Amino acid sequence: MLREGRLGEGVDAEFARYTSSLAFDVNILEYDILGSMAHAIMLGKRGIIREEEMRSILRGLLNIYRSKNLKLEHELEDVHIAVEARLFEEVGEAAGKLHTARSRNDQVALDLRMLARDRINRISRALLTLEEVLLKIAEDNKHALMPGYTHLQRAQPATLAHHMLAHFWTFLRDLERLQDAYARVNLSPLGACALAGTSFAIDREEVARLLGFGGIVENSQDAVASRDFLLEPMAALALLGVNLSRLAEELILWSTAEFGFVELSDELSSTSSIMPQKKNPDALEIMRARSARAVGNLTSALALVKALPLAYNRDLQELSPIALDSFEIIEASVSMLTKILSSAEFKPHKMRAACDDFLTATELADYLVREKGLAFRTAHRIVGRLVAKAVKAGVSPQEVTPEMLDDAAQEVIGEPLRLSSAELERCLSPEKSIAEKHSKGSPSPEAVDTSIRRGRVKLAELRAKLEERERKVKEAFESLLREVEKLAG
Ligand code: ARG
Repeated sequence: MLREGRLGEGVDAEFARYTSSLAFDVNILEYDILGSMAHAIMLGKRGIIREEEMRSILRGLLNIYRSKNLKLEHELEDVHIAVEARLFEEVGEAAGKLHTARSRNDQVALDLRMLARDRINRISRALLTLEEVLLKIAEDNKHALMPGYTHLQRAQPATLAHHMLAHFWTFLRDLERLQDAYARVNLSPLGACALAGTSFAIDREEVARLLGFGGIVENSQDAVASRDFLLEPMAALALLGVNLSRLAEELILWSTAEFGFVELSDELSSTSSIMPQKKNPDALEIMRARSARAVGNLTSALALVKALPLAYNRDLQELSPIALDSFEIIEASVSMLTKILSSAEFKPHKMRAACDDFLTATELADYLVREKGLAFRTAHRIVGRLVAKAVKAGVSPQEVTPEMLDDAAQEVIGEPLRLSSAELERCLSPEKSIAEKHSKGSPSPEAVDTSIRRGRVKLAELRAKLEERERKVKEAFESLLREVEKLAG
């Protein structure tokens, strides 16, 4: 259809297959048709094509939209040509007017922006559900003590609630990043044409409005040359993937016999073909691996774009499937993790038992600073000495005596501290340590409560904005289709 003029009819079949984007283009078919509808209406309203031509084009597009069955064969090169070819079958010569003041370059950028909009919203919706689950676990486990770790060594007492809130607030930033990216994705490139705009009196804003965009991409070369509207969400997805992967990794660790902090649901676990006892967290392992893929996709995409001169280059076609892959694997991971977490059975007793391990040594040092006027560094040394002695003698935190502390103090500052057993016990109790954490964002049940409340407010804001975004697009599409139906008669 395209080639006759310049190249003659023949095309090498291998060349056609090699350069075709049709395998990917099924994902943008719907957007391509909607975009063409908006473009045709604008052309008609502006008198660039005759009203009757607009009406028959719209009639044809509506048929294609409803049947959605297109012959996607490689000699047609891509979805834009496939739709146009089918339009010729539907309405004859009028079809040839549709491509006035348009190029496949702005067309594909438009379709991809519409795709990205939808995918960003879908992932955001899935993330909101994950966040609700994390809040629920936090709500239910404010008193479930567990060690907080540094270097994967038991460090200080925390709670399961606090730990899950850490992930909650991380994912909240992922939601914000996606929301921020959306504003830059949600701009229409249509009307840029090949790269230099057009001498036809088009109305770019009108087309943008019909398709529910927040505005237009200002510069016509930028509109067809840039793909940062994919790179930015892909970067956000790579980060989100990394964050998902860290939680997945923890659940994998926690589900080992060594930790025993969590039991994953049987339905969401695998077994071994040889070892009958095995229960394996395969989905979480896949999740870790998929996040690596999201990172790799971002790297490929950045490398693909980085040395391209303006404006459009066919290289850009190779970016689309990579971007879609990131959208798809990350959305699936968010959904899978939500399922795994909501059915996971946490083991508070195991977590509590892991806290009996001098996790409150910092508390004791703090107490010596407050009550005995020691410098923190001195207190740190005394308690360190005490713990070393206890560990060597096989004495647990509950069995430590004031005399042992005094021995350590003698060695460091040459005098005893004379704490009572009650004082010592209070300092070393994980429960009391947690209860006395007054600083904002800490693991005390009160601070966790406040944090949950603040988290809910944030989630509600993000949800409202997401719903607004979804509503705008949905309403635009509905009213576009109503208008098309009316005009098509
Ligand atoms: N399939 C192409 C892509 O994905 C559409 C744009 C083709 N433009 C062109 N000048 N060959 O980028």
